Amino acid sequence: MIRAESLTKHYGALHAVDGISFTVQPGEVLGFLGPNGAGKTTTMRMLAGFVPPTAGRAEICGFSVEDQPTEARRRLGYLPEGAPSWGEMTPREFLDFIARVRDLKGEQRRSRLDDVIGRLHLGKVLDQRIETLSKGFRRRVGLAQAILHDPPVLILDEPTDGLDPNQKHEVRELINAMAKDKIIVISTHILEEVEAVCSRAIIISAGRIVADETPAALIRRSRHHNAVTLRFEHAAGLNEAAADLRALGDVDHVEIDEATRSVTAFPKGNALILTRVADLAGERGWALSQLHLESGRLDEVFRSITEKEAA
Ligand SMILES: Nc1ncnc2c1ncn2[C@@H]1O[C@H](COP(=O)(O)OP(=O)(O)OP(=O)(O)O)[C@@H](O)[C@H]1O
Ligand SMILES: [Mg+2]
Repeated sequence: MIRAESLTKHYGALHAVDGISFTVQPGEVLGFLGPNGAGKTTTMRMLAGFVPPTAGRAEICGFSVEDQPTEARRRLGYLPEGAPSWGEMTPREFLDFIARVRDLKGEQRRSRLDDVIGRLHLGKVLDQRIETLSKGFRRRVGLAQAILHDPPVLILDEPTDGLDPNQKHEVRELINAMAKDKIIVISTHILEEVEAVCSRAIIISAGRIVADETPAALIRRSRHHNAVTLRFEHAAGLNEAAADLRALGDVDHVEIDEATRSVTAFPKGNALILTRVADLAGERGWALSQLHLESGRLDEVFRSITEKEAA
């Protein structure tokens, strides 16, 4: 388990992290979301024992990060933010070095190295200096380093930052595959990533937790949740169609987007209006290119939560 108790980090007058508490259980993939400068990286550094907290404490699998650092770190894989600084080494030298630091020996060492080199497709760049690798490959070397000793706890600061779409997909699959028996904490600015890999999302704003729920519950907070959007083939008749939709029972209001020839009908409360809207479209014989139920928009929820906090 990971436990954070009132974790706090002050830099002079700046409260970078301001009393953050949570626990994470095996099987959970926790996503940290939040605007630039919110305190995600600082929180992760404190969990990983890379900066000491000003106040509060962190525990990894029952070991205090500050008082039992060796025990805590043995159970932890950590991918720091941004580009790592082992430029002079090749991935082969660097991973060998990490294997030694992690005390991996003999057959176990060979099989763990083969495993991470294969998973992160590092075979082709093993003997090229890390500083000459592309950003995405440097990120993959960092990830390989974090999972090399197969730790029960992973803290990954923007693990897919700089990866191409194929690698993003592969790293998400990797996280999903490891999720069953591990505790994983990631930070990301990619909201679809939260839906794709996280079982829980914590939104941090100005050093504090402002939301802690499942991605599905967050999406339900969107004003678009259960709205129905119709895209019309032709612009003519858009306003009349909008008026018809507005008059439907359980429709609260409608919004017209001229640019995409779309009308979105928003339900009153949690009413389900899809069938009624579809029936109306059939009755009127509207020429539609799309009709869909909106699950909600995470970016809208993110904005509304973090902007409210900032104000
Ligand atoms: N060593 C430091 N000295 C002074 N201020 C710092 C230091 N490290 C971080 N900060 C400040 O702490 C705040 C939180 O930074 P942090 O890197 O944790 O944010 P973040 O949520 O990870 O942002 P991003 O999304 O941009 O990665 C920022 O205002 C940052 O400038
Ligand atoms: Mg950061």
